[in-house]
Amino acid sequence: MKTARGDLPMAKVKKILVLHGPNLNLLGKRQPEIYGSLTLEQINQKIRSLAREIKIEVEIRQSNYEGELVDWIQGAGQHFGALVINAGAYTHTSIALRDALAAAGIPAVEVHLSNIYKREDFRKRSLIAEVAIGQITGFGVASYLLGLRAAAGYL
Ligand code: DQA
Repeated sequence: MKTARGDLPMAKVKKILVLHGPNLNLLGKRQPEIYGSLTLEQINQKIRSLAREIKIEVEIRQSNYEGELVDWIQGAGQHFGALVINAGAYTHTSIALRDALAAAGIPAVEVHLSNIYKREDFRKRSLIAEVAIGQITGFGVASYLLGLRAAAGYL
């Protein structure tokens, strides 16, 4: 790969963007019997600590807004080599997120804390699964850590 100047080899982007969707800011107090007792910040610390261990860079963002998530996914290809996304409830509803992921040009790993296939019928359908390289669901915080390792394999 060449730089814009066309001479020096460009380093491959070794950075992963981790996106948390709506209501995940409430982790810790939100239905802990389903989502566990860790807060979002505690989950993020575990993600950062694994990233250090496997020597990749991560940036972590959370939004309750579909459009903001779409904007971040659209811009991700410029700065990141892969994405890990827990789209929360937008997983089951958002064609906009699916289209953004399909157009992102970088691989995305879909993760969920709970096992979406063991829950209500409306959660069993993921609109983003078909545009993700894979899905990890039901392992609590480990879903994110497994997702990060999987995404790192695509850098
Ligand atoms: C979730 C599962 C979704 O169905 C739910 O709306 C969430 C969290 C999970 O991580 O288990 O907000 O994505």
